Amino acid sequence: MSGVEKGSYDFANLPCQEEEFRRLEEQALFFWLRERELLRGAGLKPDMTVLDIGCGQGIVADRIARELVPQGRVVGIEPDPDLRRTAEALAESNPRLKVVAGDVYNLDLPDESFDFAYARLVFQHLNDPVRALRGIHRVLKPGGIAVIPDVDNGWLALHPEPPGFSEMLRHAEDAQAACGGDRFVGRKLAGYLEEAGFIDVSAPVEVITSDRTGLELFLKMITCFKILLLMQHNDRVDPDFFGRILQFAREQGSRGWLGIFCARGVKKSSGR
Ligand SMILES: C[S@@+](CC[C@H](N)C(=O)[O-])C[C@H]1O[C@@H](n2cnc3c(N)ncnc32)[C@H](O)[C@@H]1O
Repeated sequence: MSGVEKGSYDFANLPCQEEEFRRLEEQALFFWLRERELLRGAGLKPDMTVLDIGCGQGIVADRIARELVPQGRVVGIEPDPDLRRTAEALAESNPRLKVVAGDVYNLDLPDESFDFAYARLVFQHLNDPVRALRGIHRVLKPGGIAVIPDVDNGWLALHPEPPGFSEMLRHAEDAQAACGGDRFVGRKLAGYLEEAGFIDVSAPVEVITSDRTGLELFLKMITCFKILLLMQHNDRVDPDFFGRILQFAREQGSRGWLGIFCARGVKKSSGR
């Protein structure tokens, strides 16, 4: 798709795409059971029509369609052709999943056509989150629910911290901001939802710990995309940065904590 404002996530131009592809996959599969609970808790019901915006490889969209909406359906929107191809392959064997090319800023979908909208780890990359949320608000039915889980580096701790880790984080935050993204978006999501017209807004934080994920997956989640982003922007990065911090963290018994803000808002229904 040409002309899509991809902000700070442009898979097509990332170095080491296979590595990023595997990281997205690993993290989607690892969290699914907990995510399934969170989605049910957020109000997702078996007969709902769901929109998954920026669905990537479609792993979560496929699981939602198979396990959470047996009487409903899921539409995944993904601008990147390589990620979308994997999602389309999943849709071939899942009649309740449809995957289409699309852009959160220009949703080519009818007004009031979805019960539930989900955008997982997308908003940290968007340069105009409120405009994106207004589009999501338009396509939700009255009473429809939007759930937007995303990170916030203020809720990231690693201790003991490997040498150079904080500096890498700061560089990556700057690089992401320079492309329109925001690594501190988590705390802002509730306000953005209100600005876009949602009501009953809340933003609980789900804490991911290295005790739960294991140290290697945790470190991948908090560093790999950042390293690729810095490489993409020709920033100086030690090619063995990941190996070095993993070794340090193992030797020193480091632990990590990461907060995911699970922002939720409701589209006002006519009776309210
Ligand atoms: C970090 S990935 C997350 C993918 C998937 N949601 C997941 O959790 O595995 C960010 C996704 O946002 C998509 N994206 C970026 N800009 C977008 C836009 N303007 N509209 C829709 N999706 C977009 C990217 O192509 C990518 O699939």
